[in-house]
Amino acid sequence: MKYTHHNNALTSENIGESVALKGFVAKKRDLGNLVFIDLRDQEGITQLAFYNDNPLKEATETIKNEYVIEVKGTVAERSSKNPNIKTGDIEIDVSELNVLSKAKQPPLLIQDDTDALEDTRLRYRYLDLRRPYLKRIMKMRHQITTSVRNFLNEEDFMDFETPMLTKSTPEGARDYIVPSRNHKGRFYALPQSPQLFKQLLMISGFERYYQIAKCFRDEDLRSDRQPEFTQIDIEMSFVDQEAVLDVSERMIKRLMKDVLDIDVKTPFPRITYADAMRDYGTDKPDTRFDMKLTDLSDVFVDTEFKVFASTLQSGGSIQAINVDGGAEHYSRKKIDALTKEVKKYGAKGLAWAKMEEGALSGPTVKFFTDKENEALSTTLKMKDGDIAFIVADTLKVVRAALGFLRNHVAKELKRYDDSTFDFHWVVDWPMFEYDEEDGRYYALHHPFTRAHDAHSETLRENPDGALAYGYDLVVQGQELGGGSLRIHDTKMQADVFDVLGMDEATQREQFGFLLDALEYGTPPHGGIAFGLDRIVMILAGTKNIRDVIAFPKTASAHDLLTDAPSDVSDAQLDELGLSKKKQ
Ligand code: AMO
Ligand code: AMP
Repeated sequence: MKYTHHNNALTSENIGESVALKGFVAKKRDLGNLVFIDLRDQEGITQLAFYNDNPLKEATETIKNEYVIEVKGTVAERSSKNPNIKTGDIEIDVSELNVLSKAKQPPLLIQDDTDALEDTRLRYRYLDLRRPYLKRIMKMRHQITTSVRNFLNEEDFMDFETPMLTKSTPEGARDYIVPSRNHKGRFYALPQSPQLFKQLLMISGFERYYQIAKCFRDEDLRSDRQPEFTQIDIEMSFVDQEAVLDVSERMIKRLMKDVLDIDVKTPFPRITYADAMRDYGTDKPDTRFDMKLTDLSDVFVDTEFKVFASTLQSGGSIQAINVDGGAEHYSRKKIDALTKEVKKYGAKGLAWAKMEEGALSGPTVKFFTDKENEALSTTLKMKDGDIAFIVADTLKVVRAALGFLRNHVAKELKRYDDSTFDFHWVVDWPMFEYDEEDGRYYALHHPFTRAHDAHSETLRENPDGALAYGYDLVVQGQELGGGSLRIHDTKMQADVFDVLGMDEATQREQFGFLLDALEYGTPPHGGIAFGLDRIVMILAGTKNIRDVIAFPKTASAHDLLTDAPSDVSDAQLDELGLSKKKQ
């Protein structure tokens, strides 16, 4: 039997037609004189009806949920219609019924509002994926990659594959390593990104590369991270920053149109890294709402409030956000909860002040002079009903704490529309970041990122002042993608390694092949990589990265379906020249 329609296709226009359908039994309802079966396939649900006079009605008794069946029948009008589904006006009067495969009782309810624990869903992912919700997301993921491929192909990009068994790449996470049998005691690394290979392809004379690439990073997982994830990876020769941003914007514009039929405005706004950190406390600002960080160091220069005075003395910073109309919402209890949260970001406390009937109130307000209170409310432009949250600490802690608080409060008070896409670029990243604890500089992007022309000669003398041609695409407070122009001359590369304190032996060992290649003629080049999983999350409106990956891992990097990682036999280890350390 060949099916004539998918289960989302039939409407009242098909009434009277003979059809053949296949699918899973989503639900069976036996009303005594009548049996209904909801038949589910990839596309939707159709109701099958077996009335008393139907000789097949008895045969439905043995049919259970998730049986795979095929039916033939006639499309008929329903007596009670279901406006919630596309096929809700019709049902099938079944004339032939075959069971293609029986099913055990499934361990989870296969419907969108399933009450199964996530662990159960991941253990039986193939059943979980039968839920229409995940079907829709997987379909959207496919539409996104299709749109991206179409766009990049039309723009003359070439699709490449780069090795999975390779050497460590410089993205800064831990590597997943693979032991070699032929070279005992030696290891491949799975790529954290195709970074070095895409640069080599530019040196090979290919001018526009792309790859929908699997990347592997052994890092601490969060709700928007997986140990293996997918990048839309792009590299271009003979380009400046404008060209990379332009192609990226048009790609995003195209996919938003193709997938959601939304017109996004280009060019996207640009914020410098310095301004993003100053105004939002983060390099990935959520610009759907205002509530910017405001510096209060001037307000409290002469303060006698000990906490603030000592912060300023030790070179720290005092900053605040003003929550417009937030005074009523934030009771003491709620403020205590916020205080607990900001402490996770290193803050030692959270001072606050409410403006009511033209006067400030709050436990710390009494420690401030009238002049300070006046300056506080004017600097923050406070009006009745507002509440200000203040943190005093090192600049780093203040930004982390208030950057978090800003997002948290805006979410609690629903200060933005979830469906707003505030695409923007964060540009002019610093080349380096100094780590006080390690007493050394790190590359903020990676060591092949090119410095601004204006700073290229002074990298060694002034690493702190050096800006890079680096850029991140941010939306809804999330980093969707990031990239940079790359170094194409050996002098700048040597300067960068020098600032990073990387000696020649280490350079050779880690990147010798790239450094050699750079000496044989290197076109100026640059690129970007977008997190495909994050794009799907944003477009599908889910906060859970596991919802957008067919076979994801848990937050502890466990694959519950196959039970990986798993043990290997001693024989296998022997072959690889490995032995297990006693735990
Ligand atoms: P970067 O490390 O910024 O750049 O990665 C690019 C994008 O990949 C996504 N991403 C992740 N998604 C899910 N889980 C993860 N663990 C994860 N890590 C990163 C993010 C991020 O913006 N080679 C450079 C790009 C370049 O310079 O061209 C790179 O990998 O959305
Ligand atoms: P304490 O002196 O610890 O009792 O704190 C007095 C008030 O100042 C409390 O409301 C604290 O939450 C607040 N506070 C303490 N430390 C800080 C800080 N580093 N930044 C902002 N407020 C603080």
